[in-house]
Amino acid sequence: MGAKGQLGSELVRLLGTDAAVPHDRLSITDAAAVEALVAARKPAVVFNCAAYNAVDRAETEPELAYAVNAEGPLNLAISSRRHGATLVHFSTNFVFDGAEDRPYVEADEPAPLSVYGKSKLEGERRALEAGPHLLIVRTAAVFGGPQSFPQRILERARSGDRLRVVSDQKVNPTFARDLAAAAVDLVERGAAGIVHAVAEGCAGWDDFARAVLVERGVDVAVESIPIHAYPSAARRPLNGCLATTRYRPLRHWREAVREWAASRE
Ligand SMILES: NC(=O)c1ccc[n+]([C@@H]2O[C@H](COP(=O)([O-])OP(=O)(O)OC[C@H]3O[C@@H](n4cnc5c(N)ncnc54)[C@H](OP(=O)(O)O)[C@@H]3O)[C@@H](O)[C@H]2O)c1
Repeated sequence: MGAKGQLGSELVRLLGTDAAVPHDRLSITDAAAVEALVAARKPAVVFNCAAYNAVDRAETEPELAYAVNAEGPLNLAISSRRHGATLVHFSTNFVFDGAEDRPYVEADEPAPLSVYGKSKLEGERRALEAGPHLLIVRTAAVFGGPQSFPQRILERARSGDRLRVVSDQKVNPTFARDLAAAAVDLVERGAAGIVHAVAEGCAGWDDFARAVLVERGVDVAVESIPIHAYPSAARRPLNGCLATTRYRPLRHWREAVREWAASRE
């Protein structure tokens, strides 16, 4: 599900196009359509890569955010349980409030700050309650798609925009390709419950931007700004970094940025 998104595209690369169900083929908010598809295909594993990820817009359209991020996983969980599939669902570092001064682990108590974070947490809870064989993979700052942060930084740098980028919100920039491979690996290991899967290392968005420019050989300065200088509709956790006690860190984000940059040639 959500096969044309950043993560969905990478899973399709790994698993083949037969497995792909893009948004224009199925909306996960349509319980009857989800049921019909799962009943017909009887998959061993359902990867739910579909999500409403517009963090700021969610503040003004919470119904849509909850429909996709909470009702959708519930629909998939019910059909997965009914037909004996394992459901792999993806969630976010934004379920935490970011007040701790260390990366968040699986056992930490969620306390989302935004509608997006709340809707994703609700999705986790509804999927868990529906009781399929379930793996919830929480991740952070996914990049790799054509609209993702590195691509937007490059476009802004090339257009001559001044680059002012937030320094005091920290994340693990996680390459969609690495996340897809980790999800498949976790399934092969029979993992269940909540598992954090993020790149090793924790960085401000300004450092992420600088790494992208260095790897692409673009000589443009990045000015670091505090998050309060960049007003946005949704509150975001200052410490958006995850760690895992149940898996392993993915390769360091800096190495992943290098591969991403090389793949743009
Ligand atoms: N991106 C991040 O920084 C980030 C951070 C933490 C966690 N995550 C989580 O990681 C997972 C993958 O994220 P991603 O970055 O790959 O997302 P993405 O690139 O935004 O892809 C999401 C996909 O879901 C599709 N979609 C939206 N509504 C749908 C619906 N009702 N039914 C079926 N498909 C629908 C979208 O299609 P349209 O384009 O047609 O709407 C899009 O193809 C998500 O669970 C996300 O919440 C992402």
